[in-house]
Amino acid sequence: MDSIEITGGARLQGEVQVSGSKNATLPQIAAALLVSGRSTFHGVPDLADIRTLGRLLGHMGAKIERQGAELSVDASLITEPEAPYELVKTMRASVLVLGPLVARCGRARVSMPGGCAIGARPIDQHLKGLEALGATIDLAHGYVEARASRLRGAKILFDLPTVTGTENLMMAATLAEGLTVLENCAREPEILALQDALNAMGAKVQGAGSNTITIDGVPSLHAAAVKVIPDRIEAWTLLAAALITGGDITLRGARAQDLDAALAKMREAGARITISADSLRIEAPERPEAVDFITAPFPGFPTDLQAQLMACLTVAKGASRVVETIFENRFMHVQELSRMGADVAIDGHTAIVRGVTRLSGAPVMATDLRASASLVLAGLRAEGTTTVHRVYHLDRGYEGLEQKLSSVGARIRRVKGA
Ligand code: EPU
Repeated sequence: MDSIEITGGARLQGEVQVSGSKNATLPQIAAALLVSGRSTFHGVPDLADIRTLGRLLGHMGAKIERQGAELSVDASLITEPEAPYELVKTMRASVLVLGPLVARCGRARVSMPGGCAIGARPIDQHLKGLEALGATIDLAHGYVEARASRLRGAKILFDLPTVTGTENLMMAATLAEGLTVLENCAREPEILALQDALNAMGAKVQGAGSNTITIDGVPSLHAAAVKVIPDRIEAWTLLAAALITGGDITLRGARAQDLDAALAKMREAGARITISADSLRIEAPERPEAVDFITAPFPGFPTDLQAQLMACLTVAKGASRVVETIFENRFMHVQELSRMGADVAIDGHTAIVRGVTRLSGAPVMATDLRASASLVLAGLRAEGTTTVHRVYHLDRGYEGLEQKLSSVGARIRRVKGA
């Protein structure tokens, strides 16, 4: 297994390009299942999760082709509307095929995603919504089986905002008969991006980005060309590499409007942020100031950046309070950060991070994607060498992270495993 080796201490400086968004691409590619025809996606990041979804769609009979950052999906023929355990277990977002499949094929069989490193992550809201649209749901042998001759529009109130739940039901409702109103929706930028893609395919969706989304069902959709939005989580992680090293980085292709809450925390930590039409610059102080934060659904501070900001705060001047409200088990990076000399105490959903003057490099191991990123960040600041194991987590969601960081001066390299 590959690992990443970092020799800390370099102050990062320079320019770097943001890749396309993983969490925007996944539902947009799943939406191609709604269409008989060949849709193309531009600016698709080269990531393990995207390849997994490609394999899944291929398993169903769709034709997937990739040329550089352009990916096409032709789902004219769906022979097997099924997502098997072997693929779903490696990527929970596979559940995104459920809505499109039942809407297009009248049936779907999708392995139930189990719990994962960051929490239990049930899909009850996805299933409740599909039932409201008239699908019959059976759970047997670890699979969800959904059937409906044609879905019917309905009013659905989510118990809590769920990102992929909102996306699944938006997609299912595009081909339902009549009007669907989704309430208490997630408002993440990726949901707005999905609305744009669906509308380009001929759907009638509006309201994404607000609590209420309405979908006026149409009999069929057509193929479309879709441009993927920049990855806000990758963008902020790269800015955090400057924050933790006292650096100065300019990001090309980032969208500041997707990052308001996260950029506000960078400013509170003492960084100067300059926003221009297509770029974002951070000039960071030698050590960040302590900052309190709480994760929340968009437009709040994203849970997907909690580990990275915590890594920066381990070397802050003073104590910070971090509250995780989205996932019940998302402090797994704390033990590893502690092995590098961080001073973090956890009490339930709260972590108190007391800034230290130095971290020391160590071999560390991550349990999930964003936790891995936080360990890389800590390694950039630490004295000596840090080796981050289980790099396959990083490869799921960061395109060429070590190349990007080394292009701005980090001493980082991938060590090929056996
Ligand atoms: N929840 C339920 N029932 C449901 C669905 C969700 O109780 O039916 C709960 C979850 O357990 C969690 C909360 O609702 O406590 C929010 O979860 P959500 O459904 O919004 O998460 P998700 O859709 O599974 C997406 C991202 C995650 C990101 C979360 C939160 C994708 C493919 N994944 O997951 O991204 O952390 O939203 O913003 O969009 C990552 O990229 O590293 C990642 C984990």
